[in-house]
Amino acid sequence: MIKAEGVEKAFGSTRALAGVDLTVDSGTVLALLGRNGAGKTTFVRILATLLAPDAGRIQVAGVDVVHDAKTVRSLIGLAGQFAAVDETLSGRENLVLVGRLYGLPRREARARASEVLERLGLGDAGDRLVRTYSGGMRRRLDLGASLVGRPLVLIMDEPSTGLDPRSRIELWSLIDDFIKAGTTLLLTTQYLEEADRLADRVAVIERGRLIAAGTPDDLKQRIGGDVLEVRATSASDVERLVNLLTGLGAGLPVADMRAQCVTLPTSERVQTLLAAARRIEESGIPVADLGVRRPSLDDVFLTLTGAGGAATKRPEPRLRPVPGEPSLEPAPNARRVGS
Ligand SMILES: Nc1ncnc2c1ncn2[C@@H]1O[C@H](COP(=O)(O)OP(=O)(O)O)[C@@H](O)[C@H]1O
Ligand SMILES: [Mg+2]
Repeated sequence: MIKAEGVEKAFGSTRALAGVDLTVDSGTVLALLGRNGAGKTTFVRILATLLAPDAGRIQVAGVDVVHDAKTVRSLIGLAGQFAAVDETLSGRENLVLVGRLYGLPRREARARASEVLERLGLGDAGDRLVRTYSGGMRRRLDLGASLVGRPLVLIMDEPSTGLDPRSRIELWSLIDDFIKAGTTLLLTTQYLEEADRLADRVAVIERGRLIAAGTPDDLKQRIGGDVLEVRATSASDVERLVNLLTGLGAGLPVADMRAQCVTLPTSERVQTLLAAARRIEESGIPVADLGVRRPSLDDVFLTLTGAGGAATKRPEPRLRPVPGEPSLEPAPNARRVGS
């Protein structure tokens, strides 16, 4: 449904995209995962015909985004990081307006607006001015605007960035509904948990290049085996623990300064755990926790980018699942202790 080949874009001397190839199959969800400035929005803007690439090409359902931008626009729906809705109108009026911009007759635009409001749980709030909406409601309305044209492909640029925890959970369950309905979705995110939770396939972008792609499980398997994790009691001990653990396990230790953790890939769980425990005890460095667990997407990202804790953002504050809501925990191993 989406096919990108060798997409390049520079802004002055900044190479925002340095040759990106990716494909998204019909009815699947791809998460383009990367930190701030990685090139996600630039890719989305080219895909959505809002920006011309310097080189390469993107096709949506076989239609070229540069040569036939108009057709592509009729196939896609775009929801952005910043809600693009008019505050001085009601939610319903916003959606009818979008429908009219799509060229729908007034009756049809009204019918679709009502349908979308219901679907997004905004039925009761539909006739209130958007000015009175919460952040989560605005984001849902923005998403609604991208649905009015019944797009074949939905594109969401950092849909949950800036949302409070409850709105994020609501948004995820809404996205689940689109997924069940068979929508093809490309979403960008800085949140590993979001990619893990929603995507069939994840493409990791860093400085305008894809550095890895696969299913969340594929990516986790790249780590090979398990992960030993040590949590320090203070940030100043993290470096010492890295030095202490170097040479153990099946690779180099990685520090996560934010979580005050050091992780180490291992294929010999018990041996590595015992050896690490011995070294830690002899060194006298106090630790808050020590254990071996399955790898998470966090580990993949840290290993791929070789960076410390600043590499990724996680939803904050730490959340407990709300009773009756879908669990926030994508997998038992996907959240780092103490993060
Ligand atoms: N219009 C622009 N003019 C100049 N530089 C830009 C522009 N848009 C993006 N960039 C730069 O391109 C790089 C990628 O940006 P962007 O695609 O917005 O990343 P992301 O969405 O992953 O945070 C960044 O270094 C950013 O500063
Ligand atoms: Mg962006």
